Amino acid sequence: MTSLILVTGGTGTLGRLVVPRLREAGAKVRVLSRQARAADGDVEFVRGDLDTGAGIEAAVAGAEVIVHCAGAQKGDGDKARTLVRAASGAGAPHLVNISVVGAGRVPQDSGLDRAMFGYFGSKLAAEQVIAGSGLPWTTLRATQFHELWLTVARAMAKLPVIPVATGTRFQPVDGGEVAARLAELALGSPAGLAPDIAGPRIYPMADLVRSYLRAAGKRRPLLPMRLPGKAAAAVRAGANLAPERAVGLITWEQFLAAQVSA
Ligand SMILES: NC(=O)c1ccc[n+]([C@@H]2O[C@H](COP(=O)([O-])OP(=O)(O)OC[C@H]3O[C@@H](n4cnc5c(N)ncnc54)[C@H](OP(=O)(O)O)[C@@H]3O)[C@@H](O)[C@H]2O)c1
Repeated sequence: MTSLILVTGGTGTLGRLVVPRLREAGAKVRVLSRQARAADGDVEFVRGDLDTGAGIEAAVAGAEVIVHCAGAQKGDGDKARTLVRAASGAGAPHLVNISVVGAGRVPQDSGLDRAMFGYFGSKLAAEQVIAGSGLPWTTLRATQFHELWLTVARAMAKLPVIPVATGTRFQPVDGGEVAARLAELALGSPAGLAPDIAGPRIYPMADLVRSYLRAAGKRRPLLPMRLPGKAAAAVRAGANLAPERAVGLITWEQFLAAQVSA
């Protein structure tokens, strides 16, 4: 297998886990980053920015597959549009997109909904751009990664009191397991909307925070808060969960045991 695969976001939490899996399968890998970076072994880095479009044409040139892991809290629809525009001018690469479980199920009606849960709207916009691109495509929706929850829990543990959203549950999944599935999809034929990938267990937010505090040997009071708005209500009703797709094997507790010590 010698085809060229571009990984946008190949420097991020997920992308960094995808790149070695593609290389192990024999693919030639190019990574897009906003920073100039030296090649890492046989992985080439191309500088470009999906917000401005700078460098994107050079990044997509010659790629047969584009694994799109670049993302931010907002603006992912526009990023996808920029990527699609460049990719369409460079042949017909297979676009493999990572999205989030719940995209399309979390209302974006009010300013409040968008301020707190606009991420879901932004991921849906990216999905729609890719599905409507005319290019072959695959989108995988994942729940939140253990890695993200660890970052969030560490930041929250710096506060004297930790606010937790009542009634809100999460189903975190190991980033390595998502990366393996995304690489598998990238090496296969375009599949459209692939079955979701979600972690093995569902936890109230307070339980995720408490198990982190326990693993890190910290004590903090939790402050329960009920979030207002339709988006928050949808999340309380489980819009962000995929219980029927609990295919991840690594639990939050196992992840914490490997990553955190008191
Ligand atoms: N984290 C989760 O729990 C989760 C769950 C479901 C889906 N996802 C999705 O998975 C993807 C990856 O998430 P992650 O946690 O790995 O994110 P991350 O660690 O924050 O990494 C973000 C990546 O996006 C790149 N990027 C950001 N803005 C860019 C721009 N304007 N132009 C080009 N590249 C840009 C960054 O590259 P440089 O900084 O090198 O430029 C970086 O590699 C995102 O689309 C996210 O929405 C994440």
